[in-house]
Amino acid sequence: MEAIEAIMTRRSVRKFEKRQIPDAVLEKILRAGTYAPSALALQPWAFVVVQDQKFLNRVSDYCKPIMISLMKDAHDGMSDGFRALLESSGYSIYYDAPTVIMVVGKTGSRFREIDCSLCTENMMLAAHALGIGSCWIGSTEVAYENRELMEGFRIPEGYSPVGTIVFGYPEEKPEAHDKHPANVTWVR
Ligand SMILES: Cc1cc2nc3c(=O)[nH]c(=O)nc-3n(C[C@H](O)[C@H](O)[C@H](O)COP(=O)(O)O)c2cc1C
Repeated sequence: MEAIEAIMTRRSVRKFEKRQIPDAVLEKILRAGTYAPSALALQPWAFVVVQDQKFLNRVSDYCKPIMISLMKDAHDGMSDGFRALLESSGYSIYYDAPTVIMVVGKTGSRFREIDCSLCTENMMLAAHALGIGSCWIGSTEVAYENRELMEGFRIPEGYSPVGTIVFGYPEEKPEAHDKHPANVTWVR
């Protein structure tokens, strides 16, 4: 798939087949992540690949009620829809995806969030080009202060989470978006 096409047709996917992504394909996606630019070429990222569904369900069950209470005063259309999902039975914040990857950044590295986010977008685009769906799961953040759950992620010493992304073969194909036009100021 051509780069521009991959960028313009990628969508967040939230429904996945049960079959696991082969390790060789996951390694390709991870490798694509590492080709992202990073400040001073420090490449301050590492990856935790989680395929333990029981553990993911435990994290999801912990996060859901906290998310619901955090969103109690948000009443725009998107928030109402998301709250309804969070409250529905059997809903996992990870959408039962077969693979969840936490991108972790070197603690103290000046641009870790930017560097790791660029790395993550590379991974999501590479996944899309390989026929694999993905979605960034910000809801995981509420678990960061839960020591026991964080230990379960086995984050390498000296790193802390930046983003958590679900990956799997898509069981839905959301249409390409119409995004807002670019808000541009030209100075020339
Ligand atoms: C930082 C970040 C956090 C997100 N958190 C969630 C989340 O917790 N759950 C979810 O279903 N989608 C999440 N998303 C996906 C967004 O809802 C999605 O990117 C947005 O609606 C635009 O849709 P698109 O990705 O299909 O273009 C997140 C995206 C980003 C960038």
